[in-house]
Amino acid sequence: MEANLFAGKRIVVGVTGSIAAFKVAGWVSDLAKEEAQVMVVMTTAAERFVTPLTFAALSGNTVHTTMFADGAAESMAHIELAREADCLLIAPASADVMAKLAAGLADDLLTTTVLAANPAAVVVCPAMNSRMYAHPATQRNLAILRQLGYAIIEPATGMMACKEEGQGRLAEWEEVKERLARRFSPQDLRGVRVLVTAGPTREAIDPARYISNRSSGKMGYAIARGAWRRGAEVVLISGPTALPPPLGVKLVKVTSAMEMHDSVLSLADDCQVVIKAAAVADFRPEVRHRHKVKKEQAADEIRLAKNPDILFTLGQCKRPGQVLIGFAAESDDLLGEGRRKLAKKNLDLIAVNDIGGSDTGFEAESNQLHLVSASGVETLPHVSKLHCAGLLLDRVVQRLTEVSPAASSRDSSA
Ligand code: PMT
Repeated sequence: MEANLFAGKRIVVGVTGSIAAFKVAGWVSDLAKEEAQVMVVMTTAAERFVTPLTFAALSGNTVHTTMFADGAAESMAHIELAREADCLLIAPASADVMAKLAAGLADDLLTTTVLAANPAAVVVCPAMNSRMYAHPATQRNLAILRQLGYAIIEPATGMMACKEEGQGRLAEWEEVKERLARRFSPQDLRGVRVLVTAGPTREAIDPARYISNRSSGKMGYAIARGAWRRGAEVVLISGPTALPPPLGVKLVKVTSAMEMHDSVLSLADDCQVVIKAAAVADFRPEVRHRHKVKKEQAADEIRLAKNPDILFTLGQCKRPGQVLIGFAAESDDLLGEGRRKLAKKNLDLIAVNDIGGSDTGFEAESNQLHLVSASGVETLPHVSKLHCAGLLLDRVVQRLTEVSPAASSRDSSA
């Protein structure tokens, strides 16, 4: 899973008359780079903001603007494509077009195309002045579109092109793309509660200094994103990182190993799957000074106290049907250490990664996992951390099916 969710997907992008139309040119370009098959349909008003030539160049396909330009047979072909589209993304969706769609009108190519499409494939991204968006007529139309089964990606709040502040800005592409990725992912973790830990912990010496490690959080955040895309309800307990919170995920921020310990133990029992990708500090300074220690007065040594091993504790109280996965950051005897930790911590599986190189483990964008379980060792390919997460989650789904027969009834369709 997760190699490229967009490759080969047929996406019809319906562009309507809004200043935000220029932003969608970037969306089309990105979708084409992701190897989606993008067909753009523009309303007459949209052509006032961006030319069809721009979208044609970016999508690599002819842009469709009128019903009958190419003759009736061609128009029918467009409708056929809409019916077969994996997604019909209307962005930006103006108040006028939303009103037409709510009324079921079909007086131009875009509205006709939407009526011909599977309602479950339609995604609407409104963009307009905030007063127009807040107007009861627009809100009523939005409610009707939801009833019809169309997905709505709400506009953001902020400064608008008309220099007014409020809700109405076209949603950011990162959010829209992530929601599309979820639509294109199998929903084989729907109804499953997954707890993921990520990042380092910081063990304070004084208010200015701490002991920590090189974990960036990328691996754990990728697992949380991957699980949300597959329909899971995800809690991410994260040490300090510079990463944006993943969409749809409940993020619990912690700093120290003791805080991570308390958060994990209070939430783990409710979760069917626990994946511990965090690099938890094994030790903390025995004394945490309340004031910054003066250089001249500092002792030569810092005495350390052992932190509790959270994963070991989870392994001790693992309930039947729960899937417990650990990570191991190793630079030497990877598989030996993996086997030792698997047994000691009572895990279903441990993902061992090599922290000796520069393109796996800490901070890297990619990783290579060696999955050690009771049934042996499986070495995964060296791929992006999001792809790694997808491959690991495939094994989680498999394991869930083994430990809980009800799991096999989950929807695994795309
Ligand atoms: O964050 P990135 O930059 O993307 O890097 C990813 C990673 C290298 C941090 C990640 O892939 C990884 O290997 N995480 C585990 C690192 C680690 O702490 O390994 P460990 O061998 O010390 O611990 C083994 C397991 O016990 C881990 O699941 C860890 O979360 C857990 N543990 C460790 C100590 C402790 N006190 N409590 C724990 O729960």
